[in-house]
Amino acid sequence: YPHGAELYRGKAKTVYATDDADLLLMHYRDDTSAFDGEKKAALARKGMVNNHINAFVMTRLAQAGVPTHFVRIVGPQESLVRRLDMVPVECVVRNVAAGSLVRRLGVTEGLELDPPLFELFLKNDALHDPMVNDDHVLAFGWASAAELRRMRELSMAVNGVLKPLFADAGITLVDYKLEFGRYRGELLLGDEFTPDGCRLWDAGSGERLDKDRFRRDLGGVVEAYEEVARRLGVDLQAQ
Ligand code: C5P
Repeated sequence: YPHGAELYRGKAKTVYATDDADLLLMHYRDDTSAFDGEKKAALARKGMVNNHINAFVMTRLAQAGVPTHFVRIVGPQESLVRRLDMVPVECVVRNVAAGSLVRRLGVTEGLELDPPLFELFLKNDALHDPMVNDDHVLAFGWASAAELRRMRELSMAVNGVLKPLFADAGITLVDYKLEFGRYRGELLLGDEFTPDGCRLWDAGSGERLDKDRFRRDLGGVVEAYEEVARRLGVDLQAQ
């Protein structure tokens, strides 16, 4: 797809300008990173698989009334998205205790969280994405009170769509990270929804089908992502 200058190179995606000032090209690379970029690898096919899983999930969310930046897939590893003014905060929703929650509070991994937990983290690698609360977000002007309420509301709406979607595929949606941005006075879901940014456990065996395979050196990372795509019915040829 024709694109202009590289605007931003993240750890797994590169974002380019396009002819249309409102649209960006998002390129999903094969690069994978963990622990704030300390651990890195290139995993063949990951960019393509993630681009297609993201397109599938974003389309389902839009159909359910969650506004997103996603426009359409334009190449095996590329999608067009709306250009957002990003909120520099990550929203995490947890249905089951895992990861940093277990380390922080000493609760048992696998503990069911009902109602789900909503947490905020400042997007800052140098500071290791510290957890923050609503008051930090307001005091430092990262988002308004209305935006905060909307991020929580949309994060929970995402759970209402994706928890059953994954459950029907035999997958437990343990937790996930979302990012939001402003577009023409509205908040839209931005970034991506892929196994790089959520925890997915096989409902029967508990097998990890997400980036924890990479973090913990379990192997079969992309194979697990492909299994997620297969179970969701994602067409990896679609463009
Ligand atoms: O590490 P933690 O347990 O807080 O992560 C919660 C969820 O958010 C996990 O699914 C993780 O993959 C995701 N996450 C992310 N990017 C970050 C931090 C967490 O995608 N910077």
